[in-house]
Amino acid sequence: MLEVHTIDELREALAAERMKGRSIGFVPTMGYFHEGHITLMKEAKKRADTAVVSIFVNPTQFGPNEDLDKYPRDLDRDRSMAQEAGVDILFTPSAEEIYPEGYASYVDVIGITRVLCGKSRPGHFRGVATVVTKLLNIVQPNIALFGEKDWQQLAVIKKLVADLNIDIEIVGMPTVREEDGLAMSSRNIYLAPEERSAALIISKSLKLAQNMVDNGEGDASNILSALRGAIEGEGLVELEYLEICDPESLVPVKEITADTLIAIAARVGAARLIDNALIRPQLENTGDLV
Ligand code: PAJ
Repeated sequence: MLEVHTIDELREALAAERMKGRSIGFVPTMGYFHEGHITLMKEAKKRADTAVVSIFVNPTQFGPNEDLDKYPRDLDRDRSMAQEAGVDILFTPSAEEIYPEGYASYVDVIGITRVLCGKSRPGHFRGVATVVTKLLNIVQPNIALFGEKDWQQLAVIKKLVADLNIDIEIVGMPTVREEDGLAMSSRNIYLAPEERSAALIISKSLKLAQNMVDNGEGDASNILSALRGAIEGEGLVELEYLEICDPESLVPVKEITADTLIAIAARVGAARLIDNALIRPQLENTGDLV
C-alpha cells in the first residue's frame, strides 16, 4: 500500500494507475477505522481495480463546540487495517494541504441540509459537501462509496454530484452493526460501559418501529410517541431528534405507505450518536401486489 500526504503525489500515483487502464474506487474517511469503514474499502476493491482511501479529520464540518480536537485518531492502526483490507493508496493530507492560507470556496447544498442533523449542527453539511467535492475532484474516481449510517450525508452527496454534474457513481452501503445492534461509529469509543448499554435503545427503537409497522401501524405520530417513550425511559440517553421522513427529500411523512426513513440522533454521555433505518410498509398496504 502506498501512502501519500500531498495532492501532487496522489495525482501522480493515480495517473500511473489510469495509464494502466485501472478503474478507481474511493472511500473518504476521518479515520479511526471500524468494520463499517473496512466494508466500504473491501467493496471499493471489489468494484474497482484500485482502491483509494483518504483519512482527513475535516475541520470545516465541526462546529465551534464540537469534538474536532478530541476526535479519535490512530494512524498506525488505521494504516495496517487499510492494508489488510486491500487498499492500494492511502491519502493522509494535512489541514493546510486541503485548506491553504486564503481558502475561500464552499459548497452549500440547500434544502435537505436544513433538517435533521443540519438543524442541530448548522454549517456541518457545508463542511462535508465542500471537503467531499474537493476530494472527488482530487481523486476523480470512477466510483465513491459512503455508508447509509450517515443517511443524510449520503443524500447530500448524491444531490451535489447530480447538481454539479460530477461524473462519479455514488454507492451507498448498509450500516454495519455490533452483534447487539449498536451501529458502529468512531465515536462509540467515548461511551462508558453503562452508556454503551443504554445506547442500545437507539437501534432497539428502530426495530420497534418496524415491528409496529409489521403489526399494522401506519400512523407516524403513534410510532413516534412509542419510540419517544422508549428512548426517554433510558435516563442516560438524551434525544436530539427523532423523525419519520421521506428517504430522499427528508420531508416528514404522516402515514407509512412506502419505504420510509426513521432517523434518530441522541446524546449519550460525551457521544453524539446517530442511527437510522428504512421502514418497509406491510405488503398489503403498498398496492403493488399483483
Ligand atoms: P467517517 O465518519 O470516518 O465515515 C467514513 C465513511 O464510513 C462514511 O461514508 C460513513 O457513512 C461510513 N460509515 C461510518 N460508520 C459506518 C457503519 N457503521 N456502517 C457503514 N458505513 C459506515 O463520514 C465521514 O467520515 C466524513 O463526514 C467524510 C464523508 C469523510 C467527510 O469528511
